[in-house]
Amino acid sequence: MRWPGILAYFAEYLPVTAATPLLTLEEGNTPLIRSTSLEKRLRIGALFFKFEGMNPTGSFKDRGMVVAIAKAKEEGKEVVMCASTGNTSASAAAYARRAGLSCIVLIPQGKIALGKLSQALMHGARVLAVRGNFDDALRIVRFITANYPVALVNSINPYRIEGQKTAAFEVVEWLEGVPDILALPVGNAGNITAYWRGFKEFFERGKTRALPKMFGFQAEGACPLVLGRPVENPQTVATAIRIGNPASWKGAIAARDESGGLIDAVSDEEILLAQRTLAEEEGLFVEPASAASLAGVMKKAREGMFRGKETVVCILTGHGLKDPDIAVRQNEGKIEEVEPREEAVVELLGLRGERP
Ligand code: F0G
Repeated sequence: MRWPGILAYFAEYLPVTAATPLLTLEEGNTPLIRSTSLEKRLRIGALFFKFEGMNPTGSFKDRGMVVAIAKAKEEGKEVVMCASTGNTSASAAAYARRAGLSCIVLIPQGKIALGKLSQALMHGARVLAVRGNFDDALRIVRFITANYPVALVNSINPYRIEGQKTAAFEVVEWLEGVPDILALPVGNAGNITAYWRGFKEFFERGKTRALPKMFGFQAEGACPLVLGRPVENPQTVATAIRIGNPASWKGAIAARDESGGLIDAVSDEEILLAQRTLAEEEGLFVEPASAASLAGVMKKAREGMFRGKETVVCILTGHGLKDPDIAVRQNEGKIEEVEPREEAVVELLGLRGERP
C-alpha cells in the first residue's frame, strides 16, 4: 500500500474538513524496531524503538507540522512563525514551502545543531538567531503572533499536538495493544502531552483496553519538570531539549500522573552513552536528545525496575544526522590516515593469510 501521510490516513481523528488541503511529505508510518541485544541485558521482556528520525525532515515534528501548516493554509494565513531548538524550524520551513507559505524561525544563537540549521536555510525560511535561549525565543514568538498577522506553529498551537498524537495510534496498531511503558525525551513537553492524548483517545474509542505508563526524561541541566520550577539557564549537550520553562508543563504532569508514570532526569554522560549504545549495538543513529529515552530506561534498569516481562517502547525522536558535530566529536582520533597504496592498507589492517 502506498502510505498517504497522516492527514489522509488518520483523517477521522484529526481536524480535517472538506476545506483542509491534504498536505503531505508522507510523514508518519515510522518503524517500531525490536531491540536485538539490549532488551536481554536490561531484563526487559520486549524492547522496541520507534524511529521517528525516519520522518521526511528527520524528526517527529513533521506529524504535528503537517496539520498546523495545512490548517494555516486553510485559514488563509500567509506567514508562519516558530521558536525552535532546531527540529521544529526544519519541519516548519519544509512544510511551509510545500504549502506555499513563508516561514520565520527564531533559534537560540549558537545552540542549534548544524543539520537542523541547514534545513531551515535550504527551505528558505527567514532565520533569526536570538541572543538568548529557547524560552526567550518562544516568548517573543508568542508576542509577535498575538499582535501581528503571523500564524504560530509551535506546539502551543493545538493542531501540532493533534498531529503528534498519531504516533501513539501507530504504536497501538503495530503492537495490537499498548506497551507497559512508553519512554520519551521531554523538552517543551508537547510530545508527551500528544502521546498521552493519543493513547487515551484510542482507549476511549475501544481500540485498546489498556493504557501505558508514560516515562518522560529530561536532561539534568534542563529538568524543570523534575525540579518543579523553571530553570533560568538550561544547559545540556542535547540542544533539542535545552528548555527551562516548557510550554506544555501541565500536559506533561497530567500524562505522568494519570498514567502512573514518572518524569526523571538523565545526565549528559548517560545521554551520550545511550546514543553510542544505540548506534553500536542496535544500528540506530539518533541525535543526543532522542537517546534520552533509552538513557532513562537504562537508568531504571540499573535501579532494578524490570522483571523480564515488560513491553517497553522508547521513542527515538530525531535522526543522528541532525547533529553531526556531536557524533564526530565523540569519535575524535578514530580516523586512521593511510598512504594511497594497497600494501599500506593491508599492513595497517594487519591482514594475513591466503587470498580467497
Ligand atoms: N527530541 C527532539 C529530537 C526534539 O527536537 C525535541 C523538541 C524533543 C525531543 C522534545 O519534545 O519539546 O515536545 O517535549 N524540539 C523542539 C524544537 C523544542 O524546537 O525542535 P517536546
